[in-house]
Amino acid sequence: MAKRRLPSGVFDYIDGGAEDERTLAANQAAFAAVGFRPRVLRGIAKIDVESTILGQSLAFPLILAPTGFTRIADPEGELAVARAAARAGLPYTLSTLGTRSIEEVRSVSDGRLWFQVYAWRDRRLVQEMIDRAAAARYEALVLTADTAVLGRRERDVRRGFSLPPAIGPRTILDGAVHPGWTWSFLRNEPIRFANVVGRGVGDGTTPVTLADYINTQFDPALSWDDVSWLRSVWNGAIVLKGVQTVDDAVLAADAGVDAIALSNHGGRQLDGAPAALSLVAPVADALGGAPEIICDGGVRRGSDIAKAVAAGATAAMAGRAYLYGLGAAGERGVDRVLDWFRADLARAMSLLGVGTVADLDRSLLDIPDANR
Ligand code: GLV
Repeated sequence: MAKRRLPSGVFDYIDGGAEDERTLAANQAAFAAVGFRPRVLRGIAKIDVESTILGQSLAFPLILAPTGFTRIADPEGELAVARAAARAGLPYTLSTLGTRSIEEVRSVSDGRLWFQVYAWRDRRLVQEMIDRAAAARYEALVLTADTAVLGRRERDVRRGFSLPPAIGPRTILDGAVHPGWTWSFLRNEPIRFANVVGRGVGDGTTPVTLADYINTQFDPALSWDDVSWLRSVWNGAIVLKGVQTVDDAVLAADAGVDAIALSNHGGRQLDGAPAALSLVAPVADALGGAPEIICDGGVRRGSDIAKAVAAGATAAMAGRAYLYGLGAAGERGVDRVLDWFRADLARAMSLLGVGTVADLDRSLLDIPDANR
């Protein structure tokens, strides 16, 4: 539905990945490659999908991933997603490159909020955003570590896709055949990088390609020292997102982060990077319990959440899944996607013979040898 409703440039920005999109495909293929070993006759009459992460409860083990430029899918953007997440009892992660501000998002949600940070070259700007997130009662910072430079998303490169979309002959045509989207895009306030408006770093007033923006504004020399720096300026939990090897997971544990998100940025950064799910079991074995593990990338069904958790993750994380819902039907679309995830997970657990999330373990999985 999102593909029908959104202009193809917008849909491809959301749907696409880097280069040959091998890692994009690998994320979902990894879920397909893991089978279940269901148990029967276990007398499970009740299924409880509730769980905890970072010491607090969540309705079921799913985190809404940060996604840049969410208003491109629907004018309510991050507000719609944050409201839907709060209704569903799930944490929502606002992106640094969000199109609604830290404060606006808090004003519509009493739920759990996390804030994703990129390292602007200007660290004072980062510090300022961190202080704003603390004042607005965000509980965790999610440092994205996989974006030294932007991956080459060739669907966007081919189109010269910019944020916000620039008006030209091609976008006018694309817009004309998607009148619903175009009408709301033109009728609503302009899309901006809401967290940095007026800070002199470009806020989306002038259309810019994401690659130009990130490659000029972000510091490619991010290092473990920056994780220590974050610790020194933030009292809450720290989640390191973009870990893609066992070695780095161990370093992250040494650095004292509270959780790691195994993630290749939805296949949007380094093509050829491993599927997140394939790392869960080896990383869980190496870490032995802490920090907590989040599995991000390719999560499309509740049964995928069951696989990630059974392999050793505390929770799964999904971005595209809710963006498709948002693009298809706005806020109701996000509600629907989250309902599906929850119902799917409960059904999968019932059919697996498992009554609680804590009982999801590796004995229930048939994991390919390469990913053990
Ligand atoms: C932004 O982080 C993106 O992946 O487009």
